[in-house]
Amino acid sequence: MLEFFSGSPARTAAIAGQIAALIPAPAIVQLTGNLGAGKTTLSKSLIEAWGAGRADEVSSPTFTLIHEHGEPVSVYHIDLYRLETPNEFYSLGLDEIFDSRARVLIEWGEKFAPLLPPERWIIRIEHAGGDARRITVDRP
Ligand SMILES: Nc1ncnc2c1ncn2[C@@H]1O[C@H](COP(=O)(O)OP(=O)(O)O)[C@@H](O)[C@H]1O
Ligand SMILES: [Mg+2]
Repeated sequence: MLEFFSGSPARTAAIAGQIAALIPAPAIVQLTGNLGAGKTTLSKSLIEAWGAGRADEVSSPTFTLIHEHGEPVSVYHIDLYRLETPNEFYSLGLDEIFDSRARVLIEWGEKFAPLLPPERWIIRIEHAGGDARRITVDRP
């Protein structure tokens, strides 16, 4: 398990660059943390570090559920926050994405943890007072 401490969004972006270098494709990455912890902030810089887009052009998939980045697509960015039932999860049809050569970022993945491929990275982001965050990375 790796552990980082961030004091600002900019520092989280830099940490994301370090984490990105550790995760080769293909990969499934569960992003776990409360609302506002920084899952999307971290995702933006992961996507940029993986060469799939510019951080400032990456938006949250909270309402759209799945975003594709790169040409051809090399990163899928998924947000399960709004899903409630296993049927809703299955209706996303993620099997093809999980079997692809891409990296797959899954915000709120813990909501459906038993339904996710077991071989996955888990990045946790926790509030640590004000703008401070504790970020941990567990490998598959
Ligand atoms: N150290 C930090 N790391 C990441 N985000 C931070 C930090 N400090 C403050 N923030 C702010 O917290 C918010 C995190 O939002 P977001 O990334 O959308 O969270 P989530 O996707 O986990 O709900 C942003 O407004 C960001 O600017
Ligand atoms: Mg988010």
